[in-house]
Amino acid sequence: MTCRAEVRRFAEALACVFLLLTSAPASSGSLPEPLQDSDFLFDGKPAPAQVELGRLLFFDPILSGNRNISCASCHDPAHGTGDAVALSLGEGAQGRGTARRNREGVTGRVPRNAQPLYNIGAREYGAMFHDGRLEPDPAGTFESGFWSPAREQLPAGLDSLLAAQAMFPVTSAIEMAGHKGENPVATAVAEDRLAGPGGAWDLLARRLREIPGYVAHFTAAFVEVRGAEDITFVQAARALAAFQASAFRSQNSPFDRVLESGRADHLSPAAQAGMTLFYGKAHCVACHAGPLLTDQGFHAIAMPQIGPGKGHGSDTAYWRASGFADRLEDEGRYRVTFERADLFRFRTPSLRNVALTGPWGHAGAYDSLEAVIRHHLDPEAALAAYAADAAALPPLGEVIEQTGRGSQLIFRPLNPARRADYLLRDVWVQRSDKLRGRIAAANELTPLALSDAEVAALVAFLEALTDPAAADLSHLIPESLPSGLTPQPSRRSTL
Ligand code: HEC
Ligand code: HEC
Repeated sequence: MTCRAEVRRFAEALACVFLLLTSAPASSGSLPEPLQDSDFLFDGKPAPAQVELGRLLFFDPILSGNRNISCASCHDPAHGTGDAVALSLGEGAQGRGTARRNREGVTGRVPRNAQPLYNIGAREYGAMFHDGRLEPDPAGTFESGFWSPAREQLPAGLDSLLAAQAMFPVTSAIEMAGHKGENPVATAVAEDRLAGPGGAWDLLARRLREIPGYVAHFTAAFVEVRGAEDITFVQAARALAAFQASAFRSQNSPFDRVLESGRADHLSPAAQAGMTLFYGKAHCVACHAGPLLTDQGFHAIAMPQIGPGKGHGSDTAYWRASGFADRLEDEGRYRVTFERADLFRFRTPSLRNVALTGPWGHAGAYDSLEAVIRHHLDPEAALAAYAADAAALPPLGEVIEQTGRGSQLIFRPLNPARRADYLLRDVWVQRSDKLRGRIAAANELTPLALSDAEVAALVAFLEALTDPAAADLSHLIPESLPSGLTPQPSRRSTL
């Protein structure tokens, strides 16, 4: 304990020296306490039978409408629990990482970067997703106990925020459900029938009830399940949470050695210098605080937006230019609160294992840590200089055009003559002075001058946040699944 206090004092003293030299505003932060079991859901010990069931479900395409994609297709254990591309290709695509291509038509790219799942079972998470649109609802407005896009449809019985999250990917047409008419789950989703008999969650639970291997796993994992008819999707979500909370816990980085021992010399000299900057002159700790290096808050730092956005904003220029009735902005936290102060704010990401989780930013705009850090040093200039077409966006193959809403929703192959106009959406916001200007205007960070050596030191510190065991978690992939389907990704697929 004394040692830890000493290193904290040492870091603070160094930070003070920097502050005196640079007369920067004071924001030196202290090092956090090491992570402990009690920081995690289930006190770090979820029921093993639930973890094992969750593991099978996480890799099983049975949860997708067309049985062609699993959670792990986008949260790949060999790709930093993400998918190594800026914006995911969801159902209809095949392959891993940058080699993933759509074989069937897709409506387009998933609008945001797949979030890494390391330490996602930490209790400090107060909201899920880049915009925090899933949150606890202590006032009890909804039976589920959560504010979410599903509002009153989200059922009761979800015992954690992480379990509540697992209800959602299966209800996204582009991620897992598929297009209306292709399968009953997709049709239920398109008609906004999620809950109740015949709703999307019930249809998926029925699939699981018909598979004897799953019935055995659910019976072992949940006392309330005595037979197939007792299985619900809420239990599946709870098992997925138990699995994610334990499998993706990660706290064996050199940084953890520092927190545990109180000795900074577990880091290379460059990383030590980076740590001093991070907690001092560079003010990173103002937002990246605590053991996960996030304040769990929402901030606007003018990260570039590429891809189709979230269908928000009021700008109709793309519509007029292309004929596609889409709005292409992603207004971040504002989409949830409708408070002007929340425009273009996104949840501060955890930086644990950040060197493994690129591309970075809510739309995956940057493909190097150095570029991300340089962005923070002068967000407005970096945004203006950003070349949208340089991002890691694998080619989009055959595209399905989506028009109308609800019962009027129509999917049909895109007319090839309109393809170029369609693809413009990936770079539209960034190329528009007006839309890019809105993102810049919301920026909260003041410019900060750092030398090349200081930027390199920060990169070295971020790399010291990597737990070597987290780089490849392929041992989690099941050999086979109760559904008889091939795990996605499978142990044998290298691409
Ligand atoms: C098609 C790709 C894709 C699939 C499949 C997918 N996800 Fe995700 N996941 C994402 C993206 C993209 C986000 C961020 C979405 C946003 O912020 O709007 C995300 C966010 C999350 C989060 C929130 C993390 C955080 O930090 O708030 C969790 C947890 C998660 N996914 C778990 C799952 C589970 C469990 C499944 C399977 C039931 C799944 N995902 C399937 C792409 C995917
Ligand atoms: C004002 C709060 C704030 C400060 C200060 C701050 N960041 Fe960030 N950082 C964020 C937010 C918010 C994001 C995500 C923005 C987005 O995706 O739109 C982010 C993203 C990042 C990312 C990308 C992570 C990912 O998973 O995509 C890295 C790396 C990072 N910050 C490092 C740093 C470093 C190093 C410093 C100090 C030089 C710093 N940040 C200072 C708020 C901050």
